[in-house]
Amino acid sequence: QLFRLEDYRPTDYLIPQISLVFDLHPERTIVRAILSIERREGVEASAPLVLDGDDLNLVALTVNGAALGDNGYQATPERLEITQLPEQDRFTVEIVTEINPTTNRQLMGLYRSSGVYCTQCEAEGFRRITYFLDRPDILSIYTVRIEASEAEAPVLLSNGNRQETGDLADGRHFAVWHDPHPKPSYLFALVAGSLGHISDSFTTRSGRKVDLAIYVEHGKEPRALYAMDALKRSMKWDEEVFGREYDLEMFNVVAVSDFNMGAMENKGLNVFNDKYVLADAETATDADYAGIEAVIAHEYFHNWTGNRITCRDWFQLCLKEGLTVFRDHEFSADQRSRAVKRIAEVKTLRAHQFPEDAGPLAHPVRPRRYREINNFYTATVYEKGSEVVRMIRTILGPELFRKGMDLYFERHDGEAATIEDFVRVFEDASGQNLSQFALWYEQAGTPNLSVSYDYDAAEKTFAIELEQSLKATPGQSRKKPMHIPIKFGLIGSDGKEIAPASATGAEVAADVIHLRQRKETVRFTGVTERPVPSLLRGFSAPVTLASELPRDDLMFLALNDSDPIGRWQALTKLLTAKLIAGVKRVRGGKAPVIDTDIVGLVGEITADERLDAAFRALCLTLPGESDIARDIGNNIDPDAVLASRDALIKAIAGAHARPFAALYDALANNGTFSPDAASAGRRALRNSLLDYLSVAEGSPSRAEAQYRAADNMTDRAAALSVLVHRFGDSESAGQALAAFEERFGGDPLVMDKWFIVQATRPGAATLDTVQALMHHRLFSLDNPNRARALIGAFATANQTGFNRADGAAYRFFADTILKIDVENPQLAARLLTALRSWRSLEPVRRDHARAALAQIAGTEKLSADVKDIVERTLG
Ligand code: ARG
Ligand code: ZN
Repeated sequence: QLFRLEDYRPTDYLIPQISLVFDLHPERTIVRAILSIERREGVEASAPLVLDGDDLNLVALTVNGAALGDNGYQATPERLEITQLPEQDRFTVEIVTEINPTTNRQLMGLYRSSGVYCTQCEAEGFRRITYFLDRPDILSIYTVRIEASEAEAPVLLSNGNRQETGDLADGRHFAVWHDPHPKPSYLFALVAGSLGHISDSFTTRSGRKVDLAIYVEHGKEPRALYAMDALKRSMKWDEEVFGREYDLEMFNVVAVSDFNMGAMENKGLNVFNDKYVLADAETATDADYAGIEAVIAHEYFHNWTGNRITCRDWFQLCLKEGLTVFRDHEFSADQRSRAVKRIAEVKTLRAHQFPEDAGPLAHPVRPRRYREINNFYTATVYEKGSEVVRMIRTILGPELFRKGMDLYFERHDGEAATIEDFVRVFEDASGQNLSQFALWYEQAGTPNLSVSYDYDAAEKTFAIELEQSLKATPGQSRKKPMHIPIKFGLIGSDGKEIAPASATGAEVAADVIHLRQRKETVRFTGVTERPVPSLLRGFSAPVTLASELPRDDLMFLALNDSDPIGRWQALTKLLTAKLIAGVKRVRGGKAPVIDTDIVGLVGEITADERLDAAFRALCLTLPGESDIARDIGNNIDPDAVLASRDALIKAIAGAHARPFAALYDALANNGTFSPDAASAGRRALRNSLLDYLSVAEGSPSRAEAQYRAADNMTDRAAALSVLVHRFGDSESAGQALAAFEERFGGDPLVMDKWFIVQATRPGAATLDTVQALMHHRLFSLDNPNRARALIGAFATANQTGFNRADGAAYRFFADTILKIDVENPQLAARLLTALRSWRSLEPVRRDHARAALAQIAGTEKLSADVKDIVERTLG
């Protein structure tokens, strides 16, 4: 079935209140739902009430307390249609369903994992619990009573505030929860089981005390302390930066080990993948800590952007997701180094969203069509959606942006809103017309900016000629010019900013050029020397930049731009050009030519003590194989990409071995572990140096020593990665892997790192390793984290292994996707997107990839999720 944005219609009936009673049982859970129904004004009494279901079993049904005749309703697992309805506009429908949480392996609706009952209802999981108008524009007040065996489930949680608890006969007990805030069904949640917890409290700025708790598996409580700290910082930050206060007496977080996504913002009861809650120095890397801080903040921020103001329909998903990602990005930037955080965001966007935009799965930030909404929780909706919000702030400035956000909360609190509503608050707050800007929500694809420069010494003018273009994407052949905000600076030979006397042509406001036409020129006057232009500072728009800036200017920017993002962009441009030239030579049977200037530049930035260690680490880490492949664009040979990249690493390592070794020693950890950004930055730089030094030394000794000495997971995992990826056949690598398994074999979440490091070892032979690891005692395709660690990492982060020239890895991948699809379609569909760039491979690999996709497409009984992805991917 195809869903279309323009088909939106309000429902005939509303459900202002719902009362749910859960009688929990592992295989036979009984759900009694009492819905207060309201017929909308002007709707005939003959209009049927049609409720959504999914795999449901109706046990009983009454309307206003009376059973209906056989002609009064029609029930299937997917739908309950009630035709025999009272004349009055308000009535009550009571529905009893029976569900089986144990056999629910889709992890949607109510399921039971590791003995814990939990729910996931976004997007359409509530209909797997009871029949309902399961769409985000139906807002109801929920009262939930949970009954369960006290031995099996001492903890009983749902949304809102706990109102009552008590004992029942036969060792059972109950809890009643009430959420006073009307909410859509996708925000409903229930958790029940035997869990440990830590508690704390937060006092809001208006003086209300909120009880906080994080529930985890027994014994893991200490590992939740960092998440709790991040939660309290998030609550404070949202008050200070967005003026948003929490609105219930309690806030609960639960970590579960079987979860399809990162986490879920259910009102007052956030449910998390344990990966985004559990951390301590022994088991979590710095990246894990940063991920926890970001996801805790993200889900908490949804309380206002998502829950208080929700989405009218799922086409508006970016209304809550793009905005909330923007908010969590800003939070992390304030907690850590803003520049380093921004560069990490740009890297993520380029790595995940740009390929999506350039391939068969491209779609607008606000899609207009979908077959399976779960396939639209994408980098485009989330990350590009966040960039669109950031551009609004760039265009309006921080004050008007805040004014617009205040207006958004004031005007739409308690509503299910649209992107049009969102854009309008900024127009109203600023008096600006944003209709052209709104094309960012409508047009898929990454715009390219092509730029040329002209300095006239006699006239003292500097001209920047800008041209935007946007390729066709599926379903959109013709594109209109967009409003692109380009932050810029002009830099003089002394490294200082040049302030031109005036600008004509395209609009220039302070440090932003507003490109609105397809092609425009800005002419600056009073420019006394030829400046070096820095464009797209702060990565002010999600575009690609083709600039005819000479190599010397890029070198100058890499060393002198006052904007760190500008420096990093210039360096990345230089490195990428070199790496691509290297790929060409490798494919022609020649060795890459080493550019001593660039090798020197990398050494210079690495040694510059004035710069943040984390920033230097980012500069020292060369563009990845998939970055290089993406920038080449077509006819990719991953083996040649790896060879070119390794040649440059070797040249840099060889040229700077001595200073790198000295710096490696100087950065050694002293004192106890702290996950703060500055310490993490030093570890990142030191671990990047470890890789170079190991290459220069041609020996695993240094990594082996670091592995042994490591007192934290960041250093241990980095050493293991060098051992396995650079010296995979050595005894040291084998010993380190065995030691890791010995030490962490009881902890599947930590063992994911062990699976990942092996799955990402470059080279064709890794397929055998992955196939063998499928039989490891800790591995199971049923658990999403395990499947992502082994299969996901292999398919997305091992260019040479996955894209073996003989196609064997694609065939293995197709078989595995089909196996996963039987249990968990959402997970299978998500993993399958790893093949989205198949058309950009060289012909032999491309044919193998197409055959694997065709094998999937030709399979009977595919889920709707996988069918949608495979059909769009094949095009
Ligand atoms: N709203 C969640 C978040 O981003 C993601 C839930 C996605 N669920 C799904 N079934 N696709 O915070
Ligand atoms: Zn979200």
